[in-house]
Amino acid sequence: MLRRLLLLGAPGVGKGTQAVRLVSRLGVPQISTGDMLRAAVAAGTDVGREARGYMDRGELVPDAVVIAVAEARLRQPDAERGFILDGFPRTAEQARALDAILVKLGRALERCVVLSVDEQALVERLRKRAELEGRSDDNEAAIRTRMQVYRKQTEPLIDYYRGRGILVELDGVGSVDEVAARIEGALAA
Ligand code: AP5
Repeated sequence: MLRRLLLLGAPGVGKGTQAVRLVSRLGVPQISTGDMLRAAVAAGTDVGREARGYMDRGELVPDAVVIAVAEARLRQPDAERGFILDGFPRTAEQARALDAILVKLGRALERCVVLSVDEQALVERLRKRAELEGRSDDNEAAIRTRMQVYRKQTEPLIDYYRGRGILVELDGVGSVDEVAARIEGALAA
């Protein structure tokens, strides 16, 4: 089974949920820039102080900050056997930076899995999570911004990875188990 993976898709599509499944299935770490940035905000680090406003508004944190966070994580020994990138890269500059990092580390990305769910259903998922968890960017204004940012800055990466011949596009609608089974099928190929 492939072990150097990128999960791509709009906010709420299930990247984090599926990444956690893959961690136990593949024995490689999830690398979520969103989780790492939220931890930095909670810990009050310099990175957290810089990132907080962008995150609360639903905007992207500046590339240089996120690239440094992702590179440091990819250099950890537990990522040598593989990794599940979740929410990074999100811009063309981040994608180019990831390429350069992986060349330095002598590893190549093996699959980019894109999950798709229609936007209205995504907004419903995030509204529901807002009631349960109260994440600071799961409010109406930030959700709208996150969707716009995804379409403008991140969606173009689909073509970037299609050009590499490593793209797999999957339906993200259905139960978590159903989506996980689709992903597993795509990684076995
Ligand atoms: P990040 O944490 O990456 O948030 P996101 O992309 O908005 O993604 P979410 O966590 O909301 O959704 P997800 O696709 O992981 O879905 P999940 O599994 O959670 O980023 C947050 C912020 O950090 C960004 O806005 C930005 O400011 C900053 N940031 C992070 N990375 C950055 C980068 N690279 N560059 C710049 N800035 C960056 O599921 C969502 C909900 O749906 C959950 O409640 C879940 O239980 C539910 N669900 C999951 N699967 C299903 C299913 N099959 N059916 C029904 N419900 C489901």
